[in-house]
Amino acid sequence: MSTPRDPQHTPRVVLGVAGGIAAYKAALLLRELTETGHDVTVVPTAASERFVGRATWEALSGKPVATDVWSHADQVPHVRLGRHADLVVVAPATADLLARAAHGLADDLLTNVLLTATCPVLLAPAMHTEMWLNPAVQANVALLRSRGVTVLEPASGRLTGADSGPGRLPEPADVAAACRRLLGSGARGYDLAGRRVVVSAGGTREPLDPVRFLGNRSSGRQGVAVAAAAAARGAHVTLVTAHVEVPAPAAVDVVEVQTAAQLAEAVQAAAAAADVVVMAAAVADFRPAARADVKIKKSDDPARDPVVVLERNPDVLAGLVAARAGASPVIVGFAAETGDETGSVLEHGRAKLARKGCDLLVLNEVGETKGFATATNAVTILGRDGTEREVPEASKDVVADAVWDAVVPMLPPPAVPTTGAL
Ligand code: CTP
Repeated sequence: MSTPRDPQHTPRVVLGVAGGIAAYKAALLLRELTETGHDVTVVPTAASERFVGRATWEALSGKPVATDVWSHADQVPHVRLGRHADLVVVAPATADLLARAAHGLADDLLTNVLLTATCPVLLAPAMHTEMWLNPAVQANVALLRSRGVTVLEPASGRLTGADSGPGRLPEPADVAAACRRLLGSGARGYDLAGRRVVVSAGGTREPLDPVRFLGNRSSGRQGVAVAAAAAARGAHVTLVTAHVEVPAPAAVDVVEVQTAAQLAEAVQAAAAAADVVVMAAAVADFRPAARADVKIKKSDDPARDPVVVLERNPDVLAGLVAARAGASPVIVGFAAETGDETGSVLEHGRAKLARKGCDLLVLNEVGETKGFATATNAVTILGRDGTEREVPEASKDVVADAVWDAVVPMLPPPAVPTTGAL
C-alpha cells in the first residue's frame, strides 16, 4: 500500500479459498489472522464448498459468506470488498484460480475481488506436483508475479495421497507470516518475486572418525532468517543447510549437507540457475587429511597419541565469484571477525571483501557471547562499490531484510513474460 495507515487501524483481509483439499487448512489461517487482530472476510469459491462448508467460514469469521456477486447485491460486495481490503490472500490457490486470476476472469465473487483490489495480493498455491510444474501453471505464476502479485512457493512434502513433492500448501503459520509481512512492509513485500535465490546456512562438520568431527559454533539462525525473508519477499529459495539448530521455513527447498565439500557441490549445482547466492554458512577452511573408518582409540603409550594433519577445503565463495560470467548471480558473503593487533573488525572486513571479490559482505563482530546462537545480530553491509551500511543490533529477521534491501537494487529488471510465451 502506498499510503501509510493509522497504526490503530484494524487491517482488513479478504481470505479467498479455492477448491482444493487444502481448503481445511484455511480455517487455521483464518483463526490465526483473527486472533492476531485482523478483520477477515472469507470469500470461498463454489468448488471449495465441496471441501469446507460455508457454515465453517461464517462461524469462524462471524460474517456472512458468499461465493457469487448476486448475494447481497445491494452492497455491491465485489467492489466494496476489493476496494476496502488491506490485503487479499488466497489459500489454497488452485491451478484453476491461478489461471483465472492471471487472465482477468471475473466469473465469481473471488475473481471479481481480485480485479477490484488495489492492495497487495498474496496467493498460496496448493496442487499436485505435476500440476504445479506444468508449463501452463508456471506461465500463469510468472505473469501474476510480473504484475506484482506475491505467489508463494508451495512447500514440499506429503500430498493428498501417498505421493509427495512440491505442491503442499505452506503451513498456515507461514502463510500468516507472509500476510503480516505484506501488510507491514508495503511495496517491499514482494520485491524478490520470480527470483531464484540460494542461501547456505549453518556450520559444516569435517569427520575425524565415525564419532568425532571438527565443527564450529554457527547455529544457522542468521542464514535461515535470510532464506525466510527471501521466500516471504517472493523468491524461490534453495536453502543448503549444514547442521542448523532451527527449523527451516516451510516454503523453501532444503538440501542438507555435512561437510564443506558437500556444501560446495550443493551450492554450485543450485547457483547455476540462481539470481542471488548468499553464503551465510560457516564453512570449515580445513578438514582432517585422513578420516579413520573406526573410532580412534588411545593406547597406553602417550607417544603414540594421534596427530591430526589438516588439508584445505575449497573456498566456495571465491569459487562462485571466479566461475560466474558477467554480473549474475549477485554473490553475498558473510564474515564473522574479531579485531586484533593487525586491524579492526571493519578493516578485516574490507580486506576480506576485496580478497573474496563478492558483491556484498555482511560483516559482524563475534565473540563468546556475540553473533552465535543469539536471536539478534549487529552487522555492517559492505558493498564492492565502497558503500557501508550499518545495521544496529536487531533481530536476525531485521538483519535479513536489510541484506535483501541491499541486494534488490543490484538485480537486473525482472523478465516479463509476453503473451506469445504463454
Ligand atoms: N567461505 C566459503 N568457503 C570456505 C570458507 C568460507 O565459501 N572454505 C565463505 C563463508 O560462507 C563466508 C565467507 O566465505 O561467506 C567468509 O568466511 P570466513 O570464514 O570469514 O572467511 P575465510 O575465507 O575462511 O577467512 P579467514 O581466514 O578469516 O577464516
